[in-house]
Order: sequence, then C-alpha cells, then structure tokens
Amino acid sequence: MTYETIIFEQQDEIAIIRFNRPKALNAINPSVIKEVSDALDHIKADTSIKVLILTGEGDKAFVAGADIATMKEYTPLQGKYFSAQGHELLFQLESLAIPVIACVNGFALGGGCELAMACDFIYAADSAKFGQPEINLGIIPGFGGTQRLSRLVGKSMAKELCMTGVMISAQEAKDIGLVNKVFPKEALWEETIKVAKILAVKGKVSMRAVKETINRGYDQDLRTGCHMESDAFGMCMASEDAKEGMGAFLEKRRADFKGGLL
Ligand code: CAA
Repeated sequence: MTYETIIFEQQDEIAIIRFNRPKALNAINPSVIKEVSDALDHIKADTSIKVLILTGEGDKAFVAGADIATMKEYTPLQGKYFSAQGHELLFQLESLAIPVIACVNGFALGGGCELAMACDFIYAADSAKFGQPEINLGIIPGFGGTQRLSRLVGKSMAKELCMTGVMISAQEAKDIGLVNKVFPKEALWEETIKVAKILAVKGKVSMRAVKETINRGYDQDLRTGCHMESDAFGMCMASEDAKEGMGAFLEKRRADFKGGLL
C-alpha cells in the first residue's frame, strides 16, 4: 500500500507504520490521521498480522506533535473536530486485537507522546525526548494527554508535565513509568523486533484476551475488573490455543499456536 505521510511495511507477521514527514519532524495533520486510520483498518482485516510497531522516519523524531502550522488557523470548531479525530484514531489503535509497540526513536512530544501512550508499551532510544509542551503554545494536549498521562504516571506527575511543558529524557520517562525500556539508539530497532517476534508466536486468542481485559478493566473497580478477567479466562478455555499451550507443556514440547476457536 502506498501512502504519502506514512510508510506501511510488513515483515512476515509484523506490520510497521513509520510516520514519514521528517521535514516537519513527523508532525500530525489531518492527512496523517486519515492514512494511519486506513492502515489500521487494513491491519485489523489482515488476520496474518500478529504485531504492530509504530516508529518515526528520520533520525530526529518519532512524532513532534500535531502540526502547529495547520492548527494555528483553526477555529474553535475545527480545533474540537481535530481533537475528536485524534481521539478516535487513538481508540482505534488501542482497540486492535494485536499488541502494538511504540518504538520511539526521537522526539515524542504533544500528539506524539499521546500516540505512544495509546500503544501497549513504549521502547525508547536513549536520545528520545518526551513531553506535553502544548502549554507553551497557549493550548492543551488534545489527543488524550490530559487523560492517558495521568492514568499512566499519576495525577501530579501528569500535571507537572502538562503545566511546565518541559521535555524529559527517555530515562526520566522510564523512571516515572511512561516508558518500558530504554536502549542505545543504534540498538532500539533490533531490540524492538526481537520482542515483536516473541509476541508474534503467542496464542492470538489469549493475546487478545489479556489486552482487552487490562485495557477495559483499568478504568473499573477491582471487583468488576476481576469479574471481566474470569469471563476472559473462561473464554480462553474454549480456544485451540489453550488446548495446544497446556497440551504442549504436559508433552514437554514447544507450543505451536494457530489462534483459531474450537
Ligand atoms: N508542527 C509543525 N512543524 C513542526 C513541528 C510541529 N509540531 N515540530 C517541528 N516542526 C518543524 C519545524 O517548524 C521545522 O520546520 P522548518 O525547518 O521548516 O523551519 C522543522 O520541523 C525542524 O524543527 P526545528 O527546527 O524546530 O528543530 P529543533 O531540533 O530545533 O527542535 C523541537 C526540535 C524541540 C522538537 C521543536 O521542533 C519543537 O519544539 N517542536 C514543537 C513541539 C510541540 O510543541 N509539539 C506539540 C504540538 S501541539 C499538539 O501536539 C497538540 C495535541 O495534543 C494534539
């Protein structure tokens, strides 16, 4: 598939979306939103894809936020619509059944940080920088930053980042629980692919169930979340994956997950 603002690739069972506006540090405009949404529709429909990686083209940025030049002319209604479009895209990303890794190769600011937070986890280059600098532009995060950041790192840390607008290093982002792992810049891609390959051979049914249960249970009280877990746990027992996984353990061989339902 060809796009103008992103590059879509597939390496076996791993799909890759590269934000591809390096001259604008991969800033997000309505065309980027449309193209990523189309690519996600394609990924959802292609059952051979087991993992998605998001990364940025060029050596400077993952995504340096929403496109400021475009936003500057927005009326209040256009601003609201753009923010709502961003939210829809990130919900679309979050609701994919497969694991999604943000491979943050450089600046992840504003909408870029928000995009990374909608992935299942974040791996970052040691040179990457994170932040919600919208306050410096006289606006606020618009793609879920005020909501997802506080859920990830706590209310006061989220307020500090959104109110000061400062950029933090990848290591600081790891220390506050925003980033899972930090790698030397030159090793980031290889390490990300290594984990993507581990994810790609897991059972599809159980992978989907664990993702949905954590995502949907996160905003619930503990008892409701545990109830959802029991339902999902029981549902897994109906899968070929569960028969294969537990059978393989008892037969002392490696499981070969096919991902279908019995
Ligand atoms: N939108 C549009 N263009 C951008 C951009 C953005 N978010 N970020 C960088 N660019 C452009 C620059 O304008 C510049 O273009 P020209 O070469 O044509 O002048 C080019 O990318 C390179 O940028 P710099 O020269 O600024 O590079 P630098 O290394 O000196 O600085 C930076 C890098 C610190 C990331 C700086 O570019 C910067 O602060 N960018 C803006 C970051 C930001 O404020 N992001 C939040 C946007 S608002 C948002 O995202 C709202 C939301 O939640 C949806």
